[in-house]
Amino acid sequence: MKALMQELRENAVKSITGADSIEALEALRVKYLGKKGELTAILKQMGKLSAEERPVMGQLANQLRAELEKNIESARARLEAAALEAKLELEAVDVTIPGEDIRLGHKHPMYKALDEIKDIFVGMGFTVLDGPEVELATYNFDKLNAEEGHPSRDWSDTFYFDTDSRVMLRSQTSPMQVRAMETMELPIRIIAPGRVYRKDEVDATHSPMFHQVEGMVIDKGVTMADLKGTLNAVMEELFGKGTVTRFRPHHFPFTEPSCEMDVQCHKCGGKGCPTCKGEGWIEVLGAGMIHPRVLEMSGIDSEEYTGWAFGMGLERLAMRRFKISDLRLIFENDVRFLEQF
Ligand code: DAH
Repeated sequence: MKALMQELRENAVKSITGADSIEALEALRVKYLGKKGELTAILKQMGKLSAEERPVMGQLANQLRAELEKNIESARARLEAAALEAKLELEAVDVTIPGEDIRLGHKHPMYKALDEIKDIFVGMGFTVLDGPEVELATYNFDKLNAEEGHPSRDWSDTFYFDTDSRVMLRSQTSPMQVRAMETMELPIRIIAPGRVYRKDEVDATHSPMFHQVEGMVIDKGVTMADLKGTLNAVMEELFGKGTVTRFRPHHFPFTEPSCEMDVQCHKCGGKGCPTCKGEGWIEVLGAGMIHPRVLEMSGIDSEEYTGWAFGMGLERLAMRRFKISDLRLIFENDVRFLEQF
């Protein structure tokens, strides 16, 4: 029996020191010291021994168990330390490695132009409004004095969502005039930038989606002179002192009188070139004195109050501001182009 224990001891010590994982070590503990383990198997034979031998063997067996337990414990400590070491090695951060270059982008030139425009108007006491791109035809047309049958409602000009033409992608930012009149206290001074949609083919100056900035002032005693003075001041602020503009008579259903404003072409200085289609001028906005019917439809007394409004094409202003010759460049998002601003 002593020989058996000796053999068990040698095998166990050898395999415990050689164990290469916590799991393997646990398996060895079960194999040698477990309830059905090898040491228990040996002890079951104690019954065959004489009364003198039994306590001696019992003591030896206890010593062996204690020794193996101690071996297992120190093997466990060794394996755990090694595992921690490996983990630390794997997760090590080398703080001396140079960082990755993060390239920051910048604003799109059109939004840069918009920010400048907003700053100019906010400086003059205007409030900036945001409104829906999916709009009711009532706001886009009716309340702007363009009832059913008006040529500007032609279905082919516009994107509708329903067959009875009540909900649409707004074709202009002018519905924001109505929304402002219906919700704001007088006097009103607002601009409302945003996307608008029309059934246009893409070319150097057209796109089915583009941006407008709507503007409106309503107060007592407001005149066309205020309109011209304000818009000229804005253009000088945006494009530099001495910027030349001109106002031409025009027609819009919601203004009377109506006009369009041009700025002199930045490419040719007014001589005529491909950018201005030989005209020397670039049209940038429509404007006019708000039609009394439009004021009345939104509940404003047109005897007491007058107002003016405008709608500018943001892309055209950005093109002039940054000397861009083709509208398509603004939407194509070619970084070689965008990087220049
Ligand atoms: N909404 C017009 C358009 O898209 C532009 C316009 C003209 C806006 C006159 C106005 C205005 O506010 O008074 O062509």
